[in-house]
Amino acid sequence: MTTIAVLGAGKIGEALLSGLLSGGRSPDELLFTERYEGRAAELTKQYGVRAVDVPTAAVEAEVLVVAVKPQDIDPVLAELAPVVSDRNLVVSLCAGLPTSLYERKLPDSIPVVRVMPNTPMLVGQAMSVISAGKHAKQQHLELVEELLSTVGEVIRVPEAQQDAVTALSGSGPAYFFYLVEAMIDAGILLGIPRNVAEKLIIQSAVGAATMLAETGTHPVILREAVTSPAGTTIMAIRELERHGVRAALLAAIEAARDRSQELGKAHEG
Ligand SMILES: NC(=O)c1ccc[n+]([C@@H]2O[C@H](COP(=O)([O-])OP(=O)(O)OC[C@H]3O[C@@H](n4cnc5c(N)ncnc54)[C@H](OP(=O)(O)O)[C@@H]3O)[C@@H](O)[C@H]2O)c1
Repeated sequence: MTTIAVLGAGKIGEALLSGLLSGGRSPDELLFTERYEGRAAELTKQYGVRAVDVPTAAVEAEVLVVAVKPQDIDPVLAELAPVVSDRNLVVSLCAGLPTSLYERKLPDSIPVVRVMPNTPMLVGQAMSVISAGKHAKQQHLELVEELLSTVGEVIRVPEAQQDAVTALSGSGPAYFFYLVEAMIDAGILLGIPRNVAEKLIIQSAVGAATMLAETGTHPVILREAVTSPAGTTIMAIRELERHGVRAALLAAIEAARDRSQELGKAHEG
């Protein structure tokens, strides 16, 4: 039995606890730490999982999943440093924090795996992208894959690609929310009631995403299949091209990657 402690059970931490429980883990195999007693009591009542302090987590759990906001990392590392040992695996869900930060602040040889999750973890549909730190081995990556597969899909990339990953899948859901919001506005412009426009666009998004995921067909082929000669879709596509939507997405995602690099620099040693 591997015990897992989630350090900082906010939105992402709670989603992980909930996913691990629905994936078949028993509450006895899980622990969490939280700053506020009220929140801790609420989570224990809801999930039957015990709240502990960081030293207890490090002794009782093999896997320590850090899920605090990146700006709250320093006190967590200061608490962990005297109590972790190489029987622990540290899994960081903190956006932008390099494994080298943990390796510098924690005792030598502690294995660290960095993860970039995204918010669909809250509904069991995360895209989690994992990278090994200096001391993390194959078995550590496999364990993290097993844990995160209870809340969505998992893939491995070299850590150098994590800024690009942050820009693509970390922020990715926000781009889709933005597109959906704009398309609902278009419905309003055309005189469709808001609730109807929302239903039409959200179900179209779900349907399109399911086709992409389930058929494995290239998006160009799927789009061409609904773009008939002199039809309605090609008229819309011409406007999307005229307004530079493809170029805007390339520039937007590049800007997000640059910002992720900039934020990461603050933690370089
Ligand atoms: N949400 C996203 O879209 C997303 C996507 C990818 C990655 N992430 C990463 O996931 C991590 C968590 O994000 P989140 O949205 O879940 O944040 P959140 O809701 O603010 O959760 C963080 C939790 O950690 C608690 N905490 C802070 N310091 C602590 C300490 N020293 N000991 C114990 N608990 C502590 C916070 O308590 P308080 O309420 O007292 O502050 C809060 O409950 C972040 O590092 C973020 O970069 C998030």
